[in-house]
Parts: sequence; structure tokens; C-alpha cells
Amino acid sequence: MSGPDSAMEAEFDTVAAWTEQAVADLGRDHAVPAACRGSGSPADLAWLARGLDLRGDARFLDAGAGLGGPAAWLVDHLGGRWTGRPLLTEPMIHAARSARRLFGFPTVAAVSEALPLPSASVDVAWSLGVLCVTPSRPQVLGELRRVLVPGGRLGLLVLQHGGTPLPEQPEGNDFPTHDELAAQLADAGFRVDEEVDAARLPGAPAGWDERADRVDDHVRRHHREHPAHRQAEEQQRVMGRLLGERLVTTQLLVTTAV
Ligand SMILES: C[S@@+](CC[C@H](N)C(=O)[O-])C[C@H]1O[C@@H](n2cnc3c(N)ncnc32)[C@H](O)[C@@H]1O
Repeated sequence: MSGPDSAMEAEFDTVAAWTEQAVADLGRDHAVPAACRGSGSPADLAWLARGLDLRGDARFLDAGAGLGGPAAWLVDHLGGRWTGRPLLTEPMIHAARSARRLFGFPTVAAVSEALPLPSASVDVAWSLGVLCVTPSRPQVLGELRRVLVPGGRLGLLVLQHGGTPLPEQPEGNDFPTHDELAAQLADAGFRVDEEVDAARLPGAPAGWDERADRVDDHVRRHHREHPAHRQAEEQQRVMGRLLGERLVTTQLLVTTAV
């Protein structure tokens, strides 16, 4: 494993564990929005869910699941149409533990470059906000292809670099350009079926952002002096600027393992 650096740990591990405590204090209805770290709006998840068409007892993997919010959203969203249970993998140990405690899904601490799963053991997968935080995209995509059955679908949320030099670089991120990602997907054995810029989809429903903001405020009130909190806030400031200026955009893709 190429170890996650400290900025990544601050944002995705330490703050994730504090988030679990905030949800315990603020109430269960805060869990899903708070635990969608970087996956954006429910409209993004709904777009992916439609393309992935998860149904019956299909085996589903969320690779790089963070706190597990997107998988919990998916279970609620699909209702009885899908009777399976998500399997979560996430390399940050505190985030993985918190995900398991928050939602009760089987969660394994693992990087996506080395998934502890047999080949062709997954029917459908998604990986949200992960391919842009690791330079080992070919290895991650190779592993996802290995564990998926032929014809299995993979949903992706990827922050893409528009090609213009960035004025600031958030530590630990590695944004592919559109063409770089397209080539890496093809090399790994994925066909892109659909792709959309998330900016074209609707924003979050009323209440979603408010709940996520309340959790952030709670974490800030309790931990603002902690170096990990300062580091995570700085990461978020840089990301907010890059997305706001559209130097980096959020792309959603539905692909098929060929
Ligand atoms: C932007 S967050 C997204 C988390 C979650 N997928 C979501 O949408 O809420 C990126 C996640 O990727 C995880 N990650 C970083 N490097 C990884 C790797 N090599 N393999 C798998 N996950 C990784 C981080 O720990 C973090 O949880």
C-alpha cells in the first residue's frame, strides 16, 4: 500500500471519526448526509444508481467507501428492488470502523489497489471520489476489473482536471484529465457507457445541506484547534476554490467491465 499522506488522514480518517460522534450527538437523521464525504449531492448518487441498475440479490461493492453514507443512501433509495447488502472497503481504519458502526454494513479496511476479494465476485461496484486521490489509478482500476464479473457495471465519481495549470494543489490529490481517465479505463478493460458533469444535475434537496452543515459546525466547535482539523479545512478551502473556478470538475461515469 502506498500509505495515505497526513493531509489525507486528517480529512478522511480523523475528521471522519469526529463525524461519527457528531451524528451521535445530533441525531440519526444526520448520518447519511454527514457520511457522504465528497460524493456530493443525492442527485449524483441517483444518476449513478439509475445507470448501475442494481437489482435482485446482485453483489455490490463500494470501494473507498469513506464513512459509508453513499451506500446507506443507495440502500434507502432502492428499497425492495435490491435485496443484497453492500460490502464496503476503505483504507482509513477509523473511517472504516465508523462506517461499520454507523450503518452496520460489512466493512473491510483495504486499499483499492489490493482488494481482499476473489476474482469475479462482485456484480456491481462504485468508487466515489477515490480515483482522484490516488496516483495508482491503473492499479485501482485493474483491481476493480478483476473483482467484477464480465459485464459487471462500475460507477465512478471523479474530480477531473480541465488541463489549465492549477493555482493551488490540494495535498494528496491527483486529478486525471478527461483523456487520461478515458485511456486508463480502456486499458483496464472498462467501456464508458454514460458520462455527465455533475454541475448539470440538480442540487441537494432541502434539509440535506443543512444537516451536513450542522455536523460540520459541531466538528468545528469541538476540534477547531486540532491540527488535523486545520489541515482538513485548508484542503476543503483549496478544493472549494478549484471547483468554484471550474479548474476541476466533478464527473460521473457509468462503465461496463468488458
Ligand atoms: C473524497 S473521499 C470519498 C469517500 C466516499 N466514497 C464518499 O463518497 O463519501 C475519498 C476516499 O478515498 C479513500 N482512499 C484514499 N486512497 C485510497 C485507495 N488507495 N484505495 C481506496 N480508497 C482510498 C479515502 O480514505 C477516502 O475515504
